[in-house]
Amino acid sequence: MPAAAIDRAKVALARAIGDSRVAVDADACGAFAKDESEADGRVPDIVVHAESLAHIEATLRIAEELGVPVTPRAGGTGRSGGAIPAAGGIVLATAKLSRIKDLDRKNLLAVVEPGVVTGDLHAAAEAEGLFYPPDPNSWKSCMIGGNVAENAGGPRAFKYGTTREYVLGVEACLMGGHTVRSGKRTVKGVTGYDVTALLVGSEGTLGVFSEITLKLLPKPREIATALGLFRDSTSALDAVTAVLHHGLVPRCMEFLDPPALDALRSQGVAIDARAAALLLIELDGGHVEADLMDLGEVLSSAPGSIDVQVAQDAARRAALWEARRAMSPTTRKLAKYKISEDVVVPRSAMSELLDRVAGIGLREGVRNLTYGHAGDGNLHVNFLWNDRAEDEAVERAVSQLMDATLALGGTLSGEHGIGLTKQKYITREQGPALVQLEHGLKRVFDPKGLLNPGKIFPPDGTHHAC
Ligand code: LAC
Ligand code: ZN
Repeated sequence: MPAAAIDRAKVALARAIGDSRVAVDADACGAFAKDESEADGRVPDIVVHAESLAHIEATLRIAEELGVPVTPRAGGTGRSGGAIPAAGGIVLATAKLSRIKDLDRKNLLAVVEPGVVTGDLHAAAEAEGLFYPPDPNSWKSCMIGGNVAENAGGPRAFKYGTTREYVLGVEACLMGGHTVRSGKRTVKGVTGYDVTALLVGSEGTLGVFSEITLKLLPKPREIATALGLFRDSTSALDAVTAVLHHGLVPRCMEFLDPPALDALRSQGVAIDARAAALLLIELDGGHVEADLMDLGEVLSSAPGSIDVQVAQDAARRAALWEARRAMSPTTRKLAKYKISEDVVVPRSAMSELLDRVAGIGLREGVRNLTYGHAGDGNLHVNFLWNDRAEDEAVERAVSQLMDATLALGGTLSGEHGIGLTKQKYITREQGPALVQLEHGLKRVFDPKGLLNPGKIFPPDGTHHAC
C-alpha cells in the first residue's frame, strides 16, 4: 500500500467526517489489529469511528477513489480473523452506531444499528416480552453487525437457527459509497434476488451494514435446564439422538468431552467425579415441566448414563451456563497456544469424528479437547500446545481434522466463518466452479477488491488487493 495513498486518505477522511473520528497514531490504531482468533494481527494505518451512515459512505467513497483497503469491524470478537486488517489501510469501526432504533411489539421485529451489543438486544427485547434467540457465547461483548457478517450461531441455534434466520433486511453500504436497502419488514417476502441472504455471512467482504432489521419472537414462557452425565463421549452423543427420536426439541444440547469437563471443573463447577462426558440441555416453551420429565427418563435410560440433574434454581442454571460460555477463555488458560475449530458433521457422525480426533492427536502428539453444540453436530475441536516447535504438528493435525470432517459429510465452519484462519482449506470443500462464481460475485460488489481483502479465499485467489 503506497504511503502517499494512505496520507491522502487521512486528509480526505478528516475533512469529510471530522478529525475526532479518524485515528491515525499507532497507539490508537493498535487495539484494532486483532480479534479473538489466533490469527496474527496487523495494525491498521487509519481507524474511522463511524457515527452515521454518511460517515460509512464517505469512508467507502474515499477508500475506493484512493485505492485504500477497508476492513469493517463491530465488536472485534470474531474467531476467524474477519475483523483483522490483513492488508492494512482503514479499519471502519461501527461500534459507535449502537442505537436500537425500533422495537416493534406488534410486528415482532427490531431495527438496530450494527454496534448494538447482542446481549443488550436480548435484554431490551426481553423487557418487552420479546425474544431474540441467537446467542453467540460472546453475547456480552459481540455486536449485531459482526453477528450478521459472520452469521453467528450459539447454543440456541439448535432449536431456533442461526443469525441468518432473524435477518429480515439490511441497509448496507458498498465500496464507492453507494447504499442499498435489501429485504423487508415482513416475515414473508420473495421479491427479487435474496441479496440479504448473500450479505449475511459474507464476512465483511461485500458491504458494510448500517442498519439491520431483525425478526423477534415472543419470549418463551418457561425455561428449564438439565445436566446429563455419562461415562464416555459416545454415550453422551448417542443420547442426543435418543432425545430427538423421542420427539423432544430442546433449545440447546451442549456437549463436553472428558478434558473439557475437567476444564469446567477447574472453573469451580462441581460435577460428579464418575462423569467423563456431559450434555447440558435446555428446554423452553409452554409445557416445560412435562418435557423435563420425559427428558429425564430418556437421559437416564440411555446406555452409559451416570446421572441426570435438573438445575433447580436460577443460580445453578446461571452458574452452569456461565461456565459453559466461558469454555473458550478457560481453554485458553490450559496451554500457551490453542487453535479452536468449529467444524460440523452430520449428527450421526459426531462419535466417529471424535474417534478420528483422538487418532489425530495420538499420531501427531497434540493435546486436544472438544466441546460444542451437539444438537447441530457443531464441535469446537481445540488443539493445545506450549512450544513453537510443535507448530507443524498442530498444522498437520488441523489439516487432518478438516479432511476427516469433509470425509464424514461435514463442513469446515459452523459459526465462526472462514476469515483468515481457514482459507487454506476452503477449496477442499468447495470446487473450483463454485469458488469462481464467488469471485465473480465479489467483483460485482467490489471490483477493485478493496473491501476486507485477503479473507475467505486463499491468497492466490483473484480478488485481493495489495
Ligand atoms: C463457543 C464459541 C467458541 O461455542 O463458539 O463457546
Ligand atoms: Zn460455538
